[in-house]
Amino acid sequence: MSNYHIKHLEEYYQVYRKSVRNPESFWEEIAEEHFLWRKKWDTVLSWDFKKPEVKWFEGAKLNITENCIDRHLATRGDKTAILFEPNDPKEAAQHITYKDLYHRVNKFANVLKAKGVTKGDRVCVYLPMIPELAVAILACARIGAIHSVVFAGFSSIALATRINDADCKMVITSDGSYRGAKSIDLKGIVDEALEDCKGVNKVLVVKRTKSEIMMKAGRDEWLQPLLDDASDELVATVMDAEDPLFILYTSGSTGMPKGMVHSTGGYLVYTAYTFKNVFQYRENDIYWCTADIGWITGHSYIVYGPLANGATTVMFEGVPSYPDYGRFWDIVEKHKITQFYTAPTAIRALAKEGVTYIDTHDLSSLKVLGTVGEPINEEAWHWYDDNVGKRKAPIVDTWWQTETGGIMITPIPFCTPTKPTYATLPFIGIQPALMDENGKEIKGDQADGRLCIKFPWPSIARTIWGNHQRYKDTYFSAYENMYFTGDGALRDEVGYYRITGRVDDVIIVSGHNLGTAPIEDAINEHPTVSESAIVGFPHDIKGNALYGYVTLKETGESRNHDNLRKEINQIITEQIGPIAKLDKIQFTNGLPKTRSGKIMRRILRKIAGKDTSNLGDTSTLLNPECVQEIMDNVL
Ligand code: PRX
Repeated sequence: MSNYHIKHLEEYYQVYRKSVRNPESFWEEIAEEHFLWRKKWDTVLSWDFKKPEVKWFEGAKLNITENCIDRHLATRGDKTAILFEPNDPKEAAQHITYKDLYHRVNKFANVLKAKGVTKGDRVCVYLPMIPELAVAILACARIGAIHSVVFAGFSSIALATRINDADCKMVITSDGSYRGAKSIDLKGIVDEALEDCKGVNKVLVVKRTKSEIMMKAGRDEWLQPLLDDASDELVATVMDAEDPLFILYTSGSTGMPKGMVHSTGGYLVYTAYTFKNVFQYRENDIYWCTADIGWITGHSYIVYGPLANGATTVMFEGVPSYPDYGRFWDIVEKHKITQFYTAPTAIRALAKEGVTYIDTHDLSSLKVLGTVGEPINEEAWHWYDDNVGKRKAPIVDTWWQTETGGIMITPIPFCTPTKPTYATLPFIGIQPALMDENGKEIKGDQADGRLCIKFPWPSIARTIWGNHQRYKDTYFSAYENMYFTGDGALRDEVGYYRITGRVDDVIIVSGHNLGTAPIEDAINEHPTVSESAIVGFPHDIKGNALYGYVTLKETGESRNHDNLRKEINQIITEQIGPIAKLDKIQFTNGLPKTRSGKIMRRILRKIAGKDTSNLGDTSTLLNPECVQEIMDNVL
């Protein structure tokens, strides 16, 4: 059991050194001791960042669900695996034991099989945060189908794009979803999406809101009667360690989202090992991550990482503000949560409400607090530490990405002294590097550069679905022999990292990655819009909000700007989803461009952030005159 549970800082350094001196033997030992393999690997690691190609545990055979479910049955069969807390606090919580989960996953997997889903097929899962979402993805994994979960807040157009890109043959959805006091017609969104998805021949529908929906004969079926008739036993399909487990989309610098492909063996090993250490998970803990399974955080740290450790993982269907802003604390108290993992944007929104909701709840069960998704500002960090953790529960500020599959830079609680706004030290096995603008590594401490990773770790995404060239161009072309993260970072005098934010065309709004290109493409579809540019500007709760600069076509007509703003946001909602709506839209006669025609976002970003002290030399622009006009009319 050595090296699996790190308990003090000296041990961290020892294990870290071992993991980077000889990564193969380090990960081999972890994999051998803690997981269930049908057959061991022939090679621990082979890699080449030039191609790029990374393979972990090649030749090994396993099924991830046997690791997440079956192997716990003997010792933890009656332990709660998934603790479901519904949107409505009056509805009873559900305790799904490992034994229940085993039967439910088998039944679901048998239904998938009966409907013709086989190994390697892609299944799109578009569900709210209800237990069926976790069961559905595990059922796919059980039979070797590749799940592609699409966050159930994406619009029908965004859903259709993702279904078609992965060529999914089936969609699993629900009649509707609850979000606080609202309910959303999910099935209607799927119906619209499927008008453009010819490859989908089957839709399985979970009954949740009991709303009236259309069921297309021959295509749509209610799930429950199928489950009722299905056997609750099924032999898991044996997979290769390098077989794809899932696809998950993330935004990029072009309109098309990137379908990140994660493998089976390496992903299992890394998510399980990080979960255990980053949350200092112990057998009787009740762990709660507030993310949605539609994002990587939910995949790795609601489903796979916790279940691989036999943990109890909470799934919450609702929102932090319903029925009031005390809901999170209510759940912490009710279920005696020991580890609580959330996003800075949620912390800021809750902090705004003061401490009245906190003071009425007993939060003494909390041992570890986590944050993820965006930089946490100092004020929010202290509010979390003082009021939620009462300075007794260390905060793990975890930096990672959809592409990395698991946590990469993070304190280890009770080991690493924390420092507000710093994600601190690389996790075991992770070798970060900061690069300068000329492509050279900046050695030593007190450095500021672009964050890269020098050596593969087991859960690195293996490719972009259907577009390996884009994978290479995006992550492996900026710096030789390095994985480029797209983030900037500082390294302090003790080697702690602080992530400063994206250095590419991705903006993080409320912890969600949004590419500027897809939003601009959506805006440009408006008939009166000629051109647009999106930048982020600081926002108290969201971290960043979106600011759009829009030029209109010369039509000679005068248009009502408020109506136009509404129409533009409506198009964005339709094409992407409400998360991508703009907070501010400024109409302008021109956008600052370089002589080669590239929009100078740096200038626009500064103006939107009301920081015009140092705009740099604008005289070399193609159209310097527009800068003053934009500054004069800034919102
Ligand atoms: O910019 C970094 C930011 O979120 C990006 C990854 O987003 P996504 O793929 O959606 O995954 C989010 C959940 C893992 C990163 O490139 N980010 C994530 N965590 C942090 C962060 N920025 C600062 N501090 C963090 N702890």
